[in-house]
Amino acid sequence: MRYWMPWTRSVTACTVGCPDLRWSELSKPRGTGLSWRERQERDPYVQQARRDGWRSRAVYKLEEIDKRERLLRPGMIIVDLGAAPGSWSQYVSKKLKGRAQIFAIDLLPMDSLPGLDFIQGDFADDAVLNALQQRVGDRKVDLVMSDMAPNISGNRSIDQPRAMLLAELSLDFAQQVLGGRGDFVCKLFQGAGFDPFLAATRNCFERVKVNKPKASRAGSREVYLVARNYQL
Ligand SMILES: C[S@@+](CC[C@H](N)C(=O)[O-])C[C@H]1O[C@@H](n2cnc3c(N)ncnc32)[C@H](O)[C@@H]1O
Repeated sequence: MRYWMPWTRSVTACTVGCPDLRWSELSKPRGTGLSWRERQERDPYVQQARRDGWRSRAVYKLEEIDKRERLLRPGMIIVDLGAAPGSWSQYVSKKLKGRAQIFAIDLLPMDSLPGLDFIQGDFADDAVLNALQQRVGDRKVDLVMSDMAPNISGNRSIDQPRAMLLAELSLDFAQQVLGGRGDFVCKLFQGAGFDPFLAATRNCFERVKVNKPKASRAGSREVYLVARNYQL
């Protein structure tokens, strides 16, 4: 089943060139008086990630979801959308001791990892999407995970459709490449388009949950949809 929302593809163009974390902050005004860099420095997950050798604090979101859902198993074929700087792929590679094939994509460059096939480009660009589909080939993917989010303008009526577009494109892609019983994890922001998206995933996966991992900032509308067992 194809599910499509009426957002245009072109709105993602402004997502280029933004450092980690700024995507996850479709949030209420923060009012802390701290700059982004100061908040980064004080963030316990940022400090923990540095100590543990992870590329970003985002790893703790996937780790929590994986511990709860037991998503990963050796030999999996995984697509990581919005992968840079790479902590999710790093987590998969480390946990499965390199026994996974990971196809990853991001606007930004990303360092290599065992089992990683990386494409730098805009997932909303048809040429880039085709390149990714060609790399995946006929293989049936076990897990599509998307941590993509647009850079924010601060205007919710612009930012929310941009975020939903990326989620829509991810779901559409997942429907094309997942094998039967495949799984889909997707960053979402609560707001316009959220409920129809949830309903659409419930139509094509056996179980769908929405998680707010502890590492997801409390003031952010960011949540993660975890959809299990794709129904071909
Ligand atoms: C929160 S970061 C992902 C962090 C990553 N999961 C990790 O563990 O390191 C969001 C990423 O989405 C990427 N992104 C946003 N829009 C994109 C698009 N249209 N195509 C590809 N990547 C995109 C950004 O470049 C950014 O690296």
